[in-house]
Amino acid sequence: MKKNKGIILAGGKGLRLRPFTKIFSKHFIPVYNKPMIFYSLSILIYAGIKEILLICNKDDIKNYKKLLEPIKVKNKLKLQFQIQNNSTGGIAESLIIAPESFKKNVNKILLILGDNFFYGREFPKILNKIITSKQKNAYVFLSPVSNPSQFGIAYLNKKKQISKIIEKPKNIKSNLAVTGLYIYEKKCFEYVKKIRRSKRGELEITALNNLYLKLNKLKYFNLGRGITWFDMGTPEKIFDVSEFIKLIEKKKGFSISSL
Ligand code: G1P
Repeated sequence: MKKNKGIILAGGKGLRLRPFTKIFSKHFIPVYNKPMIFYSLSILIYAGIKEILLICNKDDIKNYKKLLEPIKVKNKLKLQFQIQNNSTGGIAESLIIAPESFKKNVNKILLILGDNFFYGREFPKILNKIITSKQKNAYVFLSPVSNPSQFGIAYLNKKKQISKIIEKPKNIKSNLAVTGLYIYEKKCFEYVKKIRRSKRGELEITALNNLYLKLNKLKYFNLGRGITWFDMGTPEKIFDVSEFIKLIEKKKGFSISSL
């Protein structure tokens, strides 16, 4: 039977979070009261994914295993690890280095960046609906931002369809960022082989998304005002997200992403 599977990208050098990242991955850094990785992992778990591939640096595997073992048992997960040797390989490279055993029997792939944070009551339901639908499209999730030059940015045409995605545009004409969460169907493993490395030497996820767009197979969901999104790649953003979580948990009396 075909399964929906998840990939978390949790490697990289974390240069903007030195000196911590000299000794461990940024995904272990506390964001308010939990390690950063809990927030992306919980999105996959809440969406109903049971089989997860965590892509990380070699030195971090031992600690990931230690940290995630109880969560794996509690949520009945099948958790696999894959080392990414090339820290500048790019997000799309994850679809190339994923083991063949993982690529087998895939229905949909939910790919998430380990430093992304999403919060919204309806969000897991929305994701679950997309991954259980029969449609063979890829999905991106857009969020309005005030600093578009730092993200992949989607441009919409008059019919409100995506006309193109530009990675870190200089000339800004849209504020709709493509967040670090992507849903693909199984052909993504073939399509990713067709894209070329960018000027920064990466296999850009934007190139893969533009390929889906060309094939008329790219859809989007706008997070709008209802679902909050942050990336947590800098000390300032970690601080912001920590404040956000602290506020919600205190006010509402429940725990976000407790696994
Ligand atoms: C990456 C993607 C970009 C996306 C962002 C979301 O950027 O390339 O399209 O908007 O993640 O966090 P990077 O973190 O590589 O700068």
